[in-house]
Amino acid sequence: MRSIRTLFALVLAISAFACSSPARHASSPTAYRAYPHGLLGSECGSGATAGAPGVGDPYYPTYGNGGYDVGNYDLDLRYAPGPNHLRATATIQAEAMQQLSCFNLDLVGLDVHGITVDGRPASFSRSNHELKITPATSLGSGSPFDVVVNYEGTPHAFRVPDLPTRVGFLPTRDGAIVAGEPEVAAGWFPVNDHPSDRATYTFRVTVPNGYDVVANGLRESKTVHGNWTTHVWVANDPMASYLATVDIGDWRMRFRRTDSGLPVIDAVDPDMIAESRATLRREPEIIAFLQSQFGPYPFDSAGAIITDSRKLGFALETQTRPIYPPHAFPGAGIYYVVHELAHQWFGDLVSVNQWKDIWLNEGFATYAEWLWTEHRGSDTTQETFHSDFSRIPRESPFWHVVIGDPGVKDLFDDAVYERGAMTLQALRNEIGTTNFFDVLHRWVQDHAFDTGSTDDFIALAEQISGEQLDDLFQTWLFDPRKPPPGSDG
Ligand code: TRP
Ligand code: ZN
Repeated sequence: MRSIRTLFALVLAISAFACSSPARHASSPTAYRAYPHGLLGSECGSGATAGAPGVGDPYYPTYGNGGYDVGNYDLDLRYAPGPNHLRATATIQAEAMQQLSCFNLDLVGLDVHGITVDGRPASFSRSNHELKITPATSLGSGSPFDVVVNYEGTPHAFRVPDLPTRVGFLPTRDGAIVAGEPEVAAGWFPVNDHPSDRATYTFRVTVPNGYDVVANGLRESKTVHGNWTTHVWVANDPMASYLATVDIGDWRMRFRRTDSGLPVIDAVDPDMIAESRATLRREPEIIAFLQSQFGPYPFDSAGAIITDSRKLGFALETQTRPIYPPHAFPGAGIYYVVHELAHQWFGDLVSVNQWKDIWLNEGFATYAEWLWTEHRGSDTTQETFHSDFSRIPRESPFWHVVIGDPGVKDLFDDAVYERGAMTLQALRNEIGTTNFFDVLHRWVQDHAFDTGSTDDFIALAEQISGEQLDDLFQTWLFDPRKPPPGSDG
């Protein structure tokens, strides 16, 4: 029951079986033609005033971009569910961090019809993952600017290494869902696609009457015009791009507040109401518990999105409103909710600095499950640690994953979750419970609405405990083998 990962692995195995044949082609690279428009893209080149085409994340070199910082995305999306067609205008408010003669956004697939920068037509060119924009005049360092991108087409779904599942903006029987990590955002809007540039969002989603829409944050309005309805949702808390979600369907929406007044908004597919009822009833209790461990809930609302679509192979911590797959309920539901809500602190409020830091998300969310188990009167976190440590044999490939730098292929390996949580219990055993929770609290405070790296975390733990912890973290995060007997306390 405690290990939702085992279940997760099982579900993946089943889905792999169910759609195995087309998946064999999964690794062939998706080649996009470059779409030259106006400038051929070379003119702006890589000179000192060109924004870099990536932020420098070694796992995803083209992800994110350099030279500017986005403040807000206003996404006006008109979606036709049958044909899976999106027609959209993205208005991006940003600030130049250097002089910019040209800069990039990330966008995969879709057709771009036109771009303006500060109201003036800009030229652009495209390659695989990059939308390169050359404004009519170059942007001065420190100046705010607006980019408006008109685009349309079928949203791009990304493949997941070695798995048959796809992620992204995915059509479902009764609408669409949006989930993926790390690859999702660039498949449905032009974006500076890296957690190091968080922004606020307004989603204006126009769908045929009869479809409902849920997204991150709070609903602002719903306006009918003819056969279409525009649903506006606003995410006021700046978030990483992969956490943005817009979900179209036949949702049963429920609005309530916790005792402390936090709005909790759930969108549940009608087929999932019975299975998820008992779990969702406990959301306020879970939030209260997590607050007691990690500090105040960080955002302006909470909630859940529960789809009946089997296309969703995982749950995801979409900010304020995690999305859950049908197989999470009723069985392990409560552990999924604990896990995804814990990510609101670890992953969402504090984001990875580079994708290799992923254990800071998954190890911590898994540790929250262990804390919940103890809170419910079952095994203590130390007992869970001990039983996992002794259960997994020395020869298991589990221990070969270097969770402090797992590589793209193993980014979400079980080891990142379980060994990540073990690392935290090993740290707690070393520095004591009081110091340990001080570290977690300070981590959240110091890096709120920002990124944090593994090195930052180690430095903080050393500062608070006054201990040299290099060996402990080397053993748990970087040695590709099972830590020596006795390492579990
Ligand atoms: N971060 C998710 C979790 O809570 C797992 C995950 C990884 C995921 N990649 C994904 C979910 C892609 C949806 C899509 O453990
Ligand atoms: Zn997780």
